[in-house]
Amino acid sequence: MTTRPAALAGLPLLEDLGDVTGKRVLVRSDLNVPLTQRDRSCEVADDFRIRQAIPTLTWLKDHGATVVCCTHVSRPHGKEVPELSVAPIAAKLAEYIDGIDVLENLRFDPREEGNDPAFVAELVSGFDCYVNDAFGASHRAHASVVGPPRTLPSAAGRLLEREVEVLGGLLVDPKRPFVAIVGGAKVADKLGVIRSLCEKADAIVVGGGMAFTFLAAQGRDVGASMLDESRVDECAELLGGSTPILLPTDVVALAPGGTFGDGERSGDVQTFDGDIPSGWMGLDIGPQSAERYASEILSAQTVLWNGPMGVFEDPRFAEGTRIVGRAVADGRGTSVVGGGDSAMAAEQFGFADKIDFMSTGGGASLEFIEYGDLPALEALRNAPNAPEGS
Ligand code: 3PG
Ligand code: MG
Repeated sequence: MTTRPAALAGLPLLEDLGDVTGKRVLVRSDLNVPLTQRDRSCEVADDFRIRQAIPTLTWLKDHGATVVCCTHVSRPHGKEVPELSVAPIAAKLAEYIDGIDVLENLRFDPREEGNDPAFVAELVSGFDCYVNDAFGASHRAHASVVGPPRTLPSAAGRLLEREVEVLGGLLVDPKRPFVAIVGGAKVADKLGVIRSLCEKADAIVVGGGMAFTFLAAQGRDVGASMLDESRVDECAELLGGSTPILLPTDVVALAPGGTFGDGERSGDVQTFDGDIPSGWMGLDIGPQSAERYASEILSAQTVLWNGPMGVFEDPRFAEGTRIVGRAVADGRGTSVVGGGDSAMAAEQFGFADKIDFMSTGGGASLEFIEYGDLPALEALRNAPNAPEGS
């Protein structure tokens, strides 16, 4: 018997379903993809998650199962919203694989997010087995995610298996040095994951809007930059720990009254070392910081990247994210990118295909790194057919 990686202990995999020939299998995928409005209908804007869902569906079909797939799309909050129908997603899926029925958006029914047992019973009715391949939704204790394994023989699909193996592997036994890059706007959303990474990583590199609360904790003036006063003490405590947390020394900032982002862009832009003058808003790490981060990343054996260094959709504040992302792609070690904005940045700057592993989950990958487990995985480990955990 081959031994499974520690991260997969106790988790039923497709092989643990036994013979699926002639069986009806319900697959929960995360086909929640960006849609764009075209005339009166919607189109899939990015099919990354759809492509990642194919191997499991193919495996089940090839092994003689009848497969029905289900997913949520966006956040309709229990109401039927025609623009959030699965129709364009099912059409895109059919370009890759035939003969898979896709149920309508699970979140049209309030009982999905309410984790209602009656909804679970309706979902599983007529099915012999359940497969969860929805890594991106596995941090949600929703009906379609945690309900079916209570009654049906169940398994993690290939995508979920791989996500857990790679992300779990980082937590169990990363090749060192292990450098984690954490960015994004809101510091409150990332402190839990930074706290957990302080125990696992050799260094943490911080950028994005969240960096300013750390800088404030060091006594720096941050001008009009994003700042969460309520988290300054917690940032100071983390900075006092034994794991080095790198912060930007120079910052690219926008003059008072300027505008930035996707729409209108105006105002003077300057780079400041140290304190940011009153009224100026830091929106990217500066060139010195980007180079320092890049050299830390290039010398690592394992790199985890979650969150951009600045407002990269605005070219005036994209350089930090581009340089850091380039280093992640060029590094000699293993590179893992959390979903969401960093995956988008990797695509935008054209180095996505040089990343070793691109997670399909944003929130899910953060929660998995923070807690080392997810509601969906716990549910699968409790399925009637689950193997003995070691
Ligand atoms: C995502 O896109 O992050 C996942 O599909 C989960 O969606 P949710 O954040 O709306 O639960
Ligand atoms: Mg999300």
